[in-house]
Amino acid sequence: MCGIVAYVGNRESYPVILKGLKRLEYRGYDSSGVAVISDKIEVYKKQGKVAELEESLLGIPMKSTIGIGHTRWATHGEPSDRNAHPHISKSGRIAMIHNGIIENYAALKLELLKKDYTFSSDTDTEVLLNFIEDIRKHNACSLEEAVRIALKRVVGAYVIVLLDLENPDTLIAARKGSPLVIGIGKNEHFLASDASPIIEYTKEVVYINDYELAIVKGNELILKNLGNEVITPFVQKLDMELAAIEKGGFNHFMIKEIFEQPQTIFDCLRGRLDLTRSDIMMAGVEKYIDELKNANRIIIVACGTSWHAGLIAEYIIEELCRIPVEVEYASEFRYRNPIVNKGDVIFAISQSGETADTLVAIERAKEQGAIIFGILNVVGSSIARISHAGAYTHAGPEIGVASTKAFTAQLVVLTMMAIKIAKEKQTISEGRFVQLMEELSAVPDKVAAILKDTYVVERIAAKHATASSFLFLGRGYNFPIALEGALKLKEISYIHAEGYPAAEMKHGPIALVDENLPVLFVATKDAYHQKVISNMQEINARKGKLIAIVSAGDHTIDALTDDIIEVPEADELIAPIINVIPLQLLSYYIGVSRGLDVDKPRNLAKSVTVE
Ligand code: AGP
Ligand code: GLU
Repeated sequence: MCGIVAYVGNRESYPVILKGLKRLEYRGYDSSGVAVISDKIEVYKKQGKVAELEESLLGIPMKSTIGIGHTRWATHGEPSDRNAHPHISKSGRIAMIHNGIIENYAALKLELLKKDYTFSSDTDTEVLLNFIEDIRKHNACSLEEAVRIALKRVVGAYVIVLLDLENPDTLIAARKGSPLVIGIGKNEHFLASDASPIIEYTKEVVYINDYELAIVKGNELILKNLGNEVITPFVQKLDMELAAIEKGGFNHFMIKEIFEQPQTIFDCLRGRLDLTRSDIMMAGVEKYIDELKNANRIIIVACGTSWHAGLIAEYIIEELCRIPVEVEYASEFRYRNPIVNKGDVIFAISQSGETADTLVAIERAKEQGAIIFGILNVVGSSIARISHAGAYTHAGPEIGVASTKAFTAQLVVLTMMAIKIAKEKQTISEGRFVQLMEELSAVPDKVAAILKDTYVVERIAAKHATASSFLFLGRGYNFPIALEGALKLKEISYIHAEGYPAAEMKHGPIALVDENLPVLFVATKDAYHQKVISNMQEINARKGKLIAIVSAGDHTIDALTDDIIEVPEADELIAPIINVIPLQLLSYYIGVSRGLDVDKPRNLAKSVTVE
């Protein structure tokens, strides 16, 4: 999720760590902290920017040649000073930083509470830290051994780095699912989430693999697996410049985040969708399951791309749960004196959790007695704080202004919620429940399959990059995806684009069609497929330039156009998560070919916190 930096060697550690944290700021974060060992473990941490942490430490000596630093992207426990990292164990002898999510932290915490452990934070991290300490105490073993034993019990993603007062010259680090790079200097080592804090000191690095443990001193690096077998480090030479490292080797954050989606969708499902137990675990939904399944109406309030996610949720919830759903633009909803009754449930969908229109809209609804459910990407955001319950999308910081990975994560959360509510209401069979879970669990691989070969999308982007207008058409679940494709193109390439229900064309917009107009159909196999084909023929008859997204192997429209993008087939209710990927790519490649700043498009902000 966010950033870690650690150092051991012959320099003052604090300046190295502070500079490293600044190098990692681009990843987005909500708080930061450092810990060093002088004659004790000194921990300094703060919600807010690294600069604020730095200012709060002016005048504090912090004499040490070993230390750890962290930028936090909260997943468990809202952003605050006490939830910031590093965390220190109950004994005060171990400090730890962590990136990732410990899924089974609640079970581990229960075990520790029975042993009279107390906690100073709400984080999963502090639970893991004390779990490690408890093992070391009861097994009278080394910290290294305690970490190894503990990690065999951990479910989730982590990179952790620990300071040990009993071994003040040694860092212990381990990773699974979150990145860790170790830079090799002369009698010094640098640890970080990526090479950006390291590159100015050394270009010799070791990329640590999952289930590996590193025992690091200034002049020694030992790698082991969780079976305590020593591994020979594979030392590589860094060949990327700083700017490229920050983007993970991609040219822009937007394309990096598009390619992160197999992982972010997996992270969104992680710890929730359990095929073996045939269950979907979502604490917020379970807490309000009666209000949700008995809701008279669900009102979805959002803006922009999040509003498109709401439209898809409307189709899914009405189909599966048979609950009436209304989707409202927050900016309209907040001013038109809407009717909100007790028994209504409001879904507030927002990546940032700070969108002013959405925030005020739900404040009004809450005053009228509605239950507010937040589907958000930022833990502890303003909307999170006024919601009664919620479900986080766990997509990690989204740096590109155009929402991509957050959107697909919203769809995954909303789909899981609908399936769970429908099962509770018994409006779907057990068989359909399991089938939809299997479909959802297959999404990361299907998205990865699209991303494996982007040549066709790049060719189509190059062909239409000079268009002055675009139409995006779809029906049913694909209609909101057509809207999302049009919004992506508008905001990234500045080309005018409209999304429309395909059948709506004959009520006016078809007058726009001529040989200069690219018309993209989201035409994957579903209940509307034959009707969409007819709509395509109508456009073809008027010389429109057809582009189509079709299910892999569907050749029914080969005769109509050469610009066909195939995507893996999926249940129509799950397909939007997959079908949007080529549209994200198309807008990106057209924007790049037009020489535009795709990460920071003109006139746009990542979060619209003003009216
Ligand atoms: C999406 O690509 C846009 N940047 C924009 O429409 C965004 O979705 C909208 O401003 C809502 O933001 P939120 O999800 O943070 O509330
Ligand atoms: N899950 C941990 C927390 O919420 C770590 C989050 C991160 O990766 O920054 O504190």
